[in-house]
Amino acid sequence: MTGPEDTALEALAAAEAAYADSRSLVTADAEGDERAVEAALRPRTLDEVVGQERVREQLSLVLQAARARERAPDHVLLSGPPGLGKTTLAMIIAAEMSSPLRLTSGPAITHAGDLAAILSGLNEDDVLFVDEIHRMSRPAEEMLYMAMEDFRVDVVIGKGPGATAIPLEIPPFTLVGATTRAGLLPGPLRDRFGFTAHLEFYEPEELELIVRRSAGLLGVRLTEQGGAEIASRSRGTPRIANRLLRRVRDYAQVRADGVVTPEIAHRALDLYEVDRSGLDRLDRGVLDVLCRRFGGGPVGVSTLAVAVGEERETVEEVAEPFLVRCGFLARTPRGRVATVAAWEHLGLVVPPEAPFAGSGRPEPGPDPRADAGAAGEPTLFDPDA
Ligand SMILES: Nc1ncnc2c1ncn2[C@@H]1O[C@H](COP(=O)(O)OP(=O)(O)OP(=O)(O)O)[C@@H](O)[C@H]1O
Ligand SMILES: [Mg+2]
Repeated sequence: MTGPEDTALEALAAAEAAYADSRSLVTADAEGDERAVEAALRPRTLDEVVGQERVREQLSLVLQAARARERAPDHVLLSGPPGLGKTTLAMIIAAEMSSPLRLTSGPAITHAGDLAAILSGLNEDDVLFVDEIHRMSRPAEEMLYMAMEDFRVDVVIGKGPGATAIPLEIPPFTLVGATTRAGLLPGPLRDRFGFTAHLEFYEPEELELIVRRSAGLLGVRLTEQGGAEIASRSRGTPRIANRLLRRVRDYAQVRADGVVTPEIAHRALDLYEVDRSGLDRLDRGVLDVLCRRFGGGPVGVSTLAVAVGEERETVEEVAEPFLVRCGFLARTPRGRVATVAAWEHLGLVVPPEAPFAGSGRPEPGPDPRADAGAAGEPTLFDPDA
């Protein structure tokens, strides 16, 4: 039996599921099944990699020189936000060196012993990829310093006064570390990488090439403008571009003749609530509340979070970074402030009393991390002026 209450509950559950889906559409992290889909779309050689010109050239030099010397290349650290190609590059390094790739991750290495087991299993010239290297345990980190520099570790057997250290030789290998938080890596570890690549967000034209390449691999028919429409909403991130392409493909298949035109891409992404700047429902909700309810700010992040019905952390860590990057929101010592671009993006007229009104498009404040009410901080502007 289903009464009106059940129907309402079902509708609520469906709405929640739809919301969860729409959120995941523009998050830069990949989960579960998506990892498998991604594997099929990964470039296999440095030449296939789109964008990241500088990193590509630098890396290609490092690898060529190592090949010429017939030695394992220096250790490489890849840092940058999720979904920009760190794992892809690690795989390419191994492929270009024709070396086997061993994969592990920081969280998997909880004891120094875990790392010792991995290191002792390496063969000469292997590439060891440690994803999320900033999450490795301290003792393992210290063991890694030694292995990187001297290709040797001390394995401690036993405890207390009777403990003995047995030195263990390791064949020359290349460590490729990936991190989204380079700042969390201890200095001694960072210093032991011979080459650090910082991946940058991609330009729309680069994302367009990536979308076109992926469409080719997935057998999706795509017009040129259709690709541009997807690229422009992808937040500078290849993972998101590939994900939006798959959703737009579904739409084109079910609701049209399968060809992705700009019109189809536009309709599909509107349906999934990814707007023309790549903002999703939460991002827009934050801006909307900030402008309509708080006159553009400044308002504290906790108040903002309550107003959109989210946790403070969600607003701070999920929505804000992209809004700041787009220049829609500024974090100032007195609170969050909507920029002129934000009002315009929402299609609202900028009220003269709004912060930044009449001052053109400001750069977000000099200290983007500053939060509301930070004592002794200079005030960037006076909203009452
Ligand atoms: N330069 C690029 N050219 C083409 N496709 C790319 C490029 N960079 C990334 N991609 C695509 O984006 C997807 C995500 O890339 P990847 O898994 O390497 O990101 P990541 O930086 O390792 O992310 P995470 O921090 O979440 O581990 C891959 O499936 C790949 O197809
Ligand atoms: Mg990765």
